[in-house]
Amino acid sequence: MHIDILTLFPRTFEGPFDESIIKRARERQLVDIAIHDLRDYTHDTHRTVDDYPYGGGAGMLLKPEPLFEAIETITGNPCLRSERECCWKILLTPQGRIFSHEVAQELATKPRLLLVCGHYEGVDERVREYMVNDEISIGDYVLSGGEFAAMVVVDAIVRLLPDVLGSEDANKEDSHVWGMLEYPQYTRPRVFQGWEVPSVLMSGNHAEIAKWRHEQALKRTQRRRPDLAAKLQEAQLSPPNSEEP
Ligand code: 6GU
Repeated sequence: MHIDILTLFPRTFEGPFDESIIKRARERQLVDIAIHDLRDYTHDTHRTVDDYPYGGGAGMLLKPEPLFEAIETITGNPCLRSERECCWKILLTPQGRIFSHEVAQELATKPRLLLVCGHYEGVDERVREYMVNDEISIGDYVLSGGEFAAMVVVDAIVRLLPDVLGSEDANKEDSHVWGMLEYPQYTRPRVFQGWEVPSVLMSGNHAEIAKWRHEQALKRTQRRRPDLAAKLQEAQLSPPNSEEP
């Protein structure tokens, strides 16, 4: 997969993309990430990227011209103008659809992504309307810009790419993959500061362990995320004549 990121703050990405799983995935050429500075696509001496909103109001907006030229240059003309999805172009904005495991899975199937990091009070509406295919938010709070959101989105997607995680099933049991939170896990020592590991995990009885883990995951999901628990129940109840697992 190839990922382009368009930002006013390219250095923000230097640390996070050079560590751990993303670093290894880049070294192994499983993903190719290119960071582009939006100011490189301006032509005035002040390298202006923003301007006042028509009609008045607080704050500044990103101007359409540098964004248009950048997106056109990065993706190539046909990609921007045609209907073909040769590059999936995403604007990161608090007004976008909410990012989730399902959205990450959907995006992980695209051969090429362009993430546009919004800034200031927003972007000229023509950017949303004519220059991108998608708008994504990572949650109901406001960030100073799309950079941290872009890092979240890239990290969640890269983990899902083929061969990125060591063992094939490393993320099959992760939180949210099954629409449930993960069960509690323990490692050595068996007793630490008087706090004991649940004895069922030491029993060697794999059926009992699996049952305990399922119960714990369910209990935790019901208590902490009633919204997820309700969705889970709905999914189990909705197909006619479906049986409890
Ligand atoms: Cl994608 N951008 C900004 N600026 N704030 C956000 C966001 C994105 N997602 C949640 N809050």
